[in-house]
Amino acid sequence: MINELRDIDGLGYFLYRSSALPDLGGGELQQILRSARTHNQELGLTGCLHYEDGMFFQWLEGPKDPLISVVETILQDSRHSEISILDQGALDHRRFQDWRMRFSDKDRASLMDWFASSENSTFHRRDYAGGVVAFLMSVAI
Ligand SMILES: Cc1cc2nc3c(=O)[nH]c(=O)nc-3n(C[C@H](O)[C@H](O)[C@H](O)COP(=O)(O)O)c2cc1C
Repeated sequence: MINELRDIDGLGYFLYRSSALPDLGGGELQQILRSARTHNQELGLTGCLHYEDGMFFQWLEGPKDPLISVVETILQDSRHSEISILDQGALDHRRFQDWRMRFSDKDRASLMDWFASSENSTFHRRDYAGGVVAFLMSVAI
């Protein structure tokens, strides 16, 4: 699933979408963020997590080895399922330099509204992934 990350040197990124557990509460979300930020700080990872209509969208970036190890942990986390990898690969510079894990939700900004009002296609996987990143970067200012 994450073979493309194994081939890179240096910085990499990983972008996915998943379905949160139907009964995931605010407390559990806070717990996910707390532990994500602690680990990411230690490992030099940065990124952004968006939560909307029961779906997670996450971009995670950083040095290859810790990135792979955290991604493997996240993929096995039972608090979400139906994980769909949107994009992964090598990165020339970080997109979320200042964020151990930026969080946003629909109250702050809606990805669906953003797509509806943008020129980005949601049909082709590449365009969809590019739109999700552009949206995440727009909320992490
Ligand atoms: C949607 C989602 C996003 C997550 N993001 C991160 C993350 O960015 N970094 C991280 O270390 N753990 C992340 N986690 C948590 C890991 O899956 C795992 O629970 C955690 O690293 C375990 O550490 P702990 O025992 O200290 O809580 C995420 C989990 C979920 C469900």
